[in-house]
Amino acid sequence: MRIYRAKDYDAMSRKAANIISAQVLIKPDCVLGLATGSTPIGTYRELVERYHQGDLDFSETTTVNLDEYKGLPRDNGQSYYYFMDQHLFSKVNINKDRTFLPDGMESDSDVACQKYNDIIHSVGGIDLQLLGLGHNGHIGFNEPGSTYEKETHCITLSERTIQANMRFFASEKDVPRQAYTMGVKTIMSARKILILVSGEDKADIVKTAFFGPVTPQVPASILQLHNDVVLIADEAALSKCPNIPQA
Ligand code: F6R
Repeated sequence: MRIYRAKDYDAMSRKAANIISAQVLIKPDCVLGLATGSTPIGTYRELVERYHQGDLDFSETTTVNLDEYKGLPRDNGQSYYYFMDQHLFSKVNINKDRTFLPDGMESDSDVACQKYNDIIHSVGGIDLQLLGLGHNGHIGFNEPGSTYEKETHCITLSERTIQANMRFFASEKDVPRQAYTMGVKTIMSARKILILVSGEDKADIVKTAFFGPVTPQVPASILQLHNDVVLIADEAALSKCPNIPQA
């Protein structure tokens, strides 16, 4: 695992955008695995800016997102499709027919997950998977205790994740209780993984996940076993880790 210490959130976002830009430049028809949440917003902003400057072209790129809430339609302001459209898809020249998320409105979980696995396989797998890190060590919606063997599956959100996501909803009861998520197996099959972490509130989990033992109780710890992972974290997130020089 290569670890970059960034001064702050903006520096982290710029470095992340550099890596994603390099991927798109080297292989314009690449498959990007994308994430939602607060962490990658700055990275998407950077990518949009580079697109407007004429430095990036997404016309041949395919994207597959990590996850989607079950039961939320695409036009619901809290759906992950809506988030991606708002922060990236509607702002660059990506072909929307090549942007994929699990279908939150498919009520049959087996059908939804099988369809999504088929899509990921049919596009040839993921070249670069972008990840954020949950406070409990989750990646995608793979919560502590998740098996490493699953591809896309339906999960029930942990209480901690419901609480963390509540900030985006009118009230706690509006937070969906289930989601479709790529499994750890899908994530680990990506050829390259880029994980971003920002903020002091993630300092404990960064240390546990990347400097502690590999265990299903901390899903992100499995990333230590992937052969091409880049972690970009800001100083606050790395404040409890061994000294890592700033890059
Ligand atoms: C998002 C996702 C989640 C988030 C994680 C961190 O698609 O799958 O695993 O990456 O919960 O969220 P933020 O960035 O909001 O702290």
